[in-house]
Amino acid sequence: MKIDPNTFEGFNRVLTGVIVPRPIAFVSSVSPDGVVNLAPYSFFNAVSYTTVVFSSSRHVGNKSKDTLRNIEETGEFVVNIVVDPIAEAMNATAAEFPEGVDEFEIAGLTHAPSDIVKAPRVLESPVNIECKLDQVVQIGSGDHEHGLVIGTIVLMHVRDDIINGHRIDQEKLMATGRMAGNMYCRTSDRYEMVRPVYDPAKSAAANR
Ligand SMILES: Cc1cc2nc3c(=O)[nH]c(=O)nc-3n(C[C@H](O)[C@H](O)[C@H](O)COP(=O)(O)O)c2cc1C
Repeated sequence: MKIDPNTFEGFNRVLTGVIVPRPIAFVSSVSPDGVVNLAPYSFFNAVSYTTVVFSSSRHVGNKSKDTLRNIEETGEFVVNIVVDPIAEAMNATAAEFPEGVDEFEIAGLTHAPSDIVKAPRVLESPVNIECKLDQVVQIGSGDHEHGLVIGTIVLMHVRDDIINGHRIDQEKLMATGRMAGNMYCRTSDRYEMVRPVYDPAKSAAANR
């Protein structure tokens, strides 16, 4: 089967069904007049050792997304990593609440002050990444308009018990992955694969 993204009804569900699992950024931001906002974003990743990106649709129905607007207006945000113990709280924040609602309260999560940016961190998340906005790249138009938020990491908070030197204990982190739709996965089933080293002497011998 070949699928044309421009004509295939429901292509978004096919795409999010094959690019799996996706990490989830739990993004906290604050409006210029101080209203705190928190929402999950799984079009999310790190794209360099100092840069994270996530993409937000501009509107949902006739409502604009608070996270995107706050970040464009203030130039700051925090990415809180979603882990299994807060997965349900994360989900609780994803309804389209009216502007002015603090989703921390809805989800029973605790504000922790950030060091550099104004947006609070989620205390219950073991990793909080304070970011300054680099730029928002507009993608698509009309109903499909998205803002690709590119953020520069200015400070990372990591809970002491999950880090040893520079090694993160994945067993303790318990990061949550997003599959398609309402499906999620755990990161408790892992395996190691050592990257091969190119040895020109061995390759030459094999080619003889
Ligand atoms: C796990 C999960 C991942 C999501 N990822 C995205 C995303 O990548 N982009 C997006 O626009 N909305 C995404 N959403 C929907 C937003 O979280 C939702 O529209 C939310 O209400 C936006 O809140 P805000 O207006 O406070 O920013 C996701 C929802 C869930 C539950």
